[in-house]
Amino acid sequence: VLGPVADLHICNKVIAPDGFNRSATLVNGLYPAPLIKAQKNDRFVLQVFNELTDDTMPLETSVHWHGIFQPKSNWADGVDYVTQCPILPGQKFVYNFTSPSQTGTYWYHSHASTQYCDGLRGPLVIYDPADPLAYMYDVDDENTVITLSDWYHTPSPQLAAIFGNVATNSTLINGRGRYLGGPLQPLTVIDVTPGLRYRFRVLGLACDLTYNFTIDGHRMTIIEVDGNEVLPVEVDSIPIFAGQRYSVVVTANQPVSNYWIRAEGGQANQTFDGGMNSAILRYVGAPDQDPTSVPGPYELSFDESTLHPLISPGAPGIPGIGKADFNLNLLAGFQIPPGLFLINNVSWVNPPMPVLLQMLSGARHPSELFPGGSVYPLPLNKVIEISFPNNGEARGGPHPIHLHGHSFDVVRLAGSNATNFVNPVRRDVVSLGAPGDNVTIRFVTDNPGPWFLHCHVDWHLKHGFAAVLAEAPRQAALQQAAVVPVEWSQLCVAPTH
Ligand code: C2O
Repeated sequence: VLGPVADLHICNKVIAPDGFNRSATLVNGLYPAPLIKAQKNDRFVLQVFNELTDDTMPLETSVHWHGIFQPKSNWADGVDYVTQCPILPGQKFVYNFTSPSQTGTYWYHSHASTQYCDGLRGPLVIYDPADPLAYMYDVDDENTVITLSDWYHTPSPQLAAIFGNVATNSTLINGRGRYLGGPLQPLTVIDVTPGLRYRFRVLGLACDLTYNFTIDGHRMTIIEVDGNEVLPVEVDSIPIFAGQRYSVVVTANQPVSNYWIRAEGGQANQTFDGGMNSAILRYVGAPDQDPTSVPGPYELSFDESTLHPLISPGAPGIPGIGKADFNLNLLAGFQIPPGLFLINNVSWVNPPMPVLLQMLSGARHPSELFPGGSVYPLPLNKVIEISFPNNGEARGGPHPIHLHGHSFDVVRLAGSNATNFVNPVRRDVVSLGAPGDNVTIRFVTDNPGPWFLHCHVDWHLKHGFAAVLAEAPRQAALQQAAVVPVEWSQLCVAPTH
């Protein structure tokens, strides 16, 4: 476990979390990357040392703190070509930021190429020692973090080159798993004491897969969604898209035994045989062996429309689709050949100079901002509404869309035409759903800076499924000019992958 002031050594190492040896890209030699644990209002000073040497994978890096708003510190958002140049081998970069008032469950990962698929991903939790809402969940223990990730036996650049569905080799829960035909590796065990109540923080750190998360014989009460506390909702399964997080309360109220914790990813090679896709919930007093529990009962299904923020619910602005100060439709397209995703007919390509630096050199208008057609300037302090009609060439998905710098209110969810402006779910990654859906979000432009908006399926991002919302370019330049070192005003070197 690391604190908010820590050194992160990004290095290559051969590991075998599922029993298969591969070279990986890791933080301090660990998979997943170590938990960063902070308290509300802490200052983060995270020194990243690039010590990468394995050129079968990207050698440059940048680290993004997923879900952290970075008020006045857009430069520390960690997106190469948007807020900084990549950190080259041998270089060091210090991320120094605060995010007053944010608490909850976040994560951090490489934003360079598909590098997080090779291992650079881990949890980040901000505790509130004086949480006024603690009575809402009243748990005996809130120190359990459960990370779900897809794992690959091949370096990500080779996988990114395959166009089409990339098969994952295994699912790792807290860095342990088994692959089809592989050895019976030890699985992660979560120990619980009969009668106690636990807050489990469940994080979707996937490159691609959507997990259906369940615990045999146990219900879960959702109390947090992507860093936002919600009114408690009891469910027995949760779909977790790449990048999403949930806190759930689980009561150890079943007979003393072992129970499967399941994260099923729906790929053909991801059967449940031999405990693939799983971890173990073990009651104190139960034998040290694999569970024999059966799935379910599934009685309380997940419904995203039942999730309501606990604090200041309600979407900003005048209710009604199209009635915000500024309305944008972003249509996801797909082009074969050459196998690219597009947003409003433009595929993202890394510009030679990060968007933030373009703003610092005076670029304000779409015609001055690069990559052309991918940067959307937005006015300051306005209500922005974005619709994502899922009827373009990229329809289907899954496409979990993430916006940096904000949580947003999802006023129209996938799977429905109904709208909710009163108490819609607030989160930072939302699934665009199925063909015909038209997910719509709202937020206020109170955070100047260029913020990346992209599909969190890393293969899709790599193939151009991204854009930048350039929030208040003039104010962003004024705010950041004092903090961005002059030597930054440079063209980035070309990436290795
Ligand atoms: Cu989780 Cu653009 O990132």
